[in-house]
Amino acid sequence: VTPIPREQTLDNSLALLKEGYQFIPNRCQSYGADIFETRLLGEKVICMSGEEAAELFYDKEKFTRKGAAPKRIQKTLFGENAIQGMDGKAHEHRKQLFMKLMTEERLQRLSEITTEEWRRKFPAWQKAEKVVLFQEAKEVLCRAACRWAGVPLEESEVKERADDFWDMVDAFGAVGPRHWQGRKARKRGEAWIKKVIHQVRDGELKADKNTALFAMAFHRDLNGEHLDSEMASIELINVLRPLVAITNFIAFSVLALHEHPQYRNQLQEADDDFFEMFSQEVRRYYPFGPFLGARVRRGFIWNDIKFEKGRLVLLDIYGTNHDPRLWKEPDKFYPERFGDWNGGLFDLIPQGGGEYYKNHRCPGEWATLRVMKASLDFLTKEITYQVPDQVLSYSMVRMPSVPESGMVLNEIQKFEEAK
Ligand code: HEM
Repeated sequence: VTPIPREQTLDNSLALLKEGYQFIPNRCQSYGADIFETRLLGEKVICMSGEEAAELFYDKEKFTRKGAAPKRIQKTLFGENAIQGMDGKAHEHRKQLFMKLMTEERLQRLSEITTEEWRRKFPAWQKAEKVVLFQEAKEVLCRAACRWAGVPLEESEVKERADDFWDMVDAFGAVGPRHWQGRKARKRGEAWIKKVIHQVRDGELKADKNTALFAMAFHRDLNGEHLDSEMASIELINVLRPLVAITNFIAFSVLALHEHPQYRNQLQEADDDFFEMFSQEVRRYYPFGPFLGARVRRGFIWNDIKFEKGRLVLLDIYGTNHDPRLWKEPDKFYPERFGDWNGGLFDLIPQGGGEYYKNHRCPGEWATLRVMKASLDFLTKEITYQVPDQVLSYSMVRMPSVPESGMVLNEIQKFEEAK
């Protein structure tokens, strides 16, 4: 057995907070290895990066998700005891619940609803001196997500609900106030959605059969029982929250368009293929999810390295998406690279890797691409805008990273009128 590069520090939690998305890539680089051992939050952790590591990470014989996500993440981002921490047959059964929402027809509907909700925003934008795209997108996507999922949403509550969904996501790398904000948001969100689940089950609210609301309210687990209303609400939020979180990819898309204006012109003339390539590059290039965690199910040896039972293992998302062995000039924003991408299961992993039905790979990946493409279509083909002076940076340390200014836009006009 080969010794794995091992950090000699007592605990590296602080370095993780200081280095953010670069924590794993920095160390892989200095060790000249794609795997090393460190200590985080008082326990030994193996960190690994790259395609081969991703393939290993998704081997269900070797890894379990049980006990992998800290409680603080479950109390903000995921919800407690939900799909993210399940294994085996129970996980596969729960996963189907999400996958069956992703039919072509339903995805098409999501795309249409997204476009309609952007269009509804336009009249107010035209009159506004400026808009903060991040805030606008959150509300657009919150309306779209609730409509698509069949969840009633009053106009007066849109902002608070949208902010709550984002705050659950925003808490993931946070200590202190941002973490507590995320907990508050989750409590409020779960109480709201739980009530809606009760209303549907009691027949007070009618849910269309095709919606996520119906699916979660009436899903039966392997034991033949409905989910309790708490779990049904958590799993419904597992659809709504990430749909709202696509906001971040949209804000980064607008940043990319600003920094590479040639793509704006290209998209104005483009068909679906180029929209897809552009969206894939946004998901690859910009930092969002930093890494994933799992625990060793049974001890094993891989590439001469010993993985002990129970060990926490982190897979580097950001570093894999920027791995020079996989991506030519990884730090260049270059959508054309997806022209001949082979669709590998373990190289482009902004939303996890492996197979949808058997692994934990994000079931919302197609939905994410549809929402991004519909949003980009609106932002490039239906309107024009200016990007006034503002701070156009984003942090590589704050997790999740967001464009710091929220992307302020002004002089918004209809595309045809501007021509
Ligand atoms: C899982 C990212 C959008 C629902 C995941 C995972 C990541 C991720 C990294 C974990 C993969 C793993 O554990 O191996 C994202 C990002 C999104 C997004 C960055 C865009 C903002 C969506 C959407 C939905 C969704 C739109 C639903 C409509 C889920 C669910 C899981 C998941 C239910 C858990 C799957 C499982 O444990 O089997 N996502 N996601 N996500 N995502 Fe997404």
